[in-house]
Amino acid sequence: MLTAGTVVTVVALAGAAAVVLSLPRWLPGRVVALRMRVFAGINGDESITVPGDLVGVDRFKEVYSHPAACGRSRGAALSDLFWYWLSPGPEIHQEHLEPGERYDAVALATRRVLSVPRERAEELARRCVTRALRRGPGTVRLRDLMMPVWAEFYYELVFGDPCPPDARELIVGNANDVVTALKCCGLRHMDRRERLTGYLVERLPRVRHELPAGLTERERALYLQGAFFNTAVVQMSEATAHVLMALAQHPDVRARARAGDDRYLDQVIAETLRLYPLFGVAHRITDGDIALGDGVTIPAGSVLCFDYPEFHRAGFADPGRFDPGRFAPGHPPVRELNHIPFGVSANRPCPAWRLAPITLRVAVRETLRAYELESTASHTRSLPNRGPCLLTPLDALPGPGRRPVLLYMRFRDGWEDVWRSLVQLVLGTYMVWDARRLRMCESHFAGGPPPVVPGRS
Ligand code: HEM
Repeated sequence: MLTAGTVVTVVALAGAAAVVLSLPRWLPGRVVALRMRVFAGINGDESITVPGDLVGVDRFKEVYSHPAACGRSRGAALSDLFWYWLSPGPEIHQEHLEPGERYDAVALATRRVLSVPRERAEELARRCVTRALRRGPGTVRLRDLMMPVWAEFYYELVFGDPCPPDARELIVGNANDVVTALKCCGLRHMDRRERLTGYLVERLPRVRHELPAGLTERERALYLQGAFFNTAVVQMSEATAHVLMALAQHPDVRARARAGDDRYLDQVIAETLRLYPLFGVAHRITDGDIALGDGVTIPAGSVLCFDYPEFHRAGFADPGRFDPGRFAPGHPPVRELNHIPFGVSANRPCPAWRLAPITLRVAVRETLRAYELESTASHTRSLPNRGPCLLTPLDALPGPGRRPVLLYMRFRDGWEDVWRSLVQLVLGTYMVWDARRLRMCESHFAGGPPPVVPGRS
């Protein structure tokens, strides 16, 4: 006969087991929210979020496009964080340069490298992705699968020659380190990044394009590293992983994308970048007042944080639903929608806004031609899980054994989310604190060198 004590113990154990088993469902979300609060606390209350209380969705583009919204780094505590994550060379990274002669020279050089005829870009993307897909079927992380593709692509664009394996490894090592730290999944490894800088300095004479005038050799190498072997490789790998993840989780869309033409793929890409914009927030520092009317003014020196996910939700019915049909013919043209995956044309939009979708389409089309894609993992905007996915060769379908693999992946990825969210909380808090301590951006503009801390990574 059961005693009261035994019953209490059994009930307590069952309760504890239920809480533990339910962790993957609720803990990661809570930890993300806590991490955001910690970040906001450390960064202070200096910024104005748009859209928000002061500027609504209806004036989002107007304020973003305002000539006074032009500062990129100086005067925002937030910049110390980006400079930390994008090191080495954040002071020469196009994204973070203040307007002026140096910015103009850098932006011109980037435009030159990116102005590739469409056929050549498509052919090069096809060649790079086909090589990567040969590495085989099975369970993959889509971001890891795609990073060597874009490393090879951008190497060949910059140098005009096929990418040697050692260069590919250096580029992937650099880009992976940057994006892993940015997502707070790991700390920075400056040695990996500096190895690429050293390689680029040596290879400068073989670059096929005119590089920005007025820069030292190291600055030129850092410029290439920042724009192409960091931003381009990271953004393209993330974007491809997002589109493939969305397809892996929406069988109807996937079937139509496989059977359909490029116009439908474009809708899939547009909807993916609406729901999962690569920028969470882009910030600007105002160099003059912005009058909003009715006596309300955004004063000079304000930090404006343009919230892409929030803007992309506004004005769409059931905005959380993945529906490429929103961009089908017969719907309002994109320019009339709250859809700015490549930024706003009047204020430093992405220089790859033309090339990126063309090459992204090739990568997605080639992957769909080779494999069936399935994923049971969580798909969030920051994609910290790097897109777990099961790739099955199309000629091996229906094939046995996919169900247990997918079940195993669901279990593994759910628990990985729990562990990773805790890691992100700890490492994120440390890196935000470290970045604020080093104050790289602030010291740069104050004229002094950044503090050197012996022995740190
Ligand atoms: C699908 C892929 C991509 C997306 C969605 C994307 C998105 C964006 C967005 C939204 C901005 C503007 C942010 C702001 O207003 O501050 C931006 C800026 C930028 N992007 Fe991209 N990007 C992508 C690929 C690339 C590639 C392939 C490159 C290659 C070099 C690139 C280089 C840059 C640079 C240098 C800037 C800064 C522009 C400036 O301040 O003058 N991006 N990107």
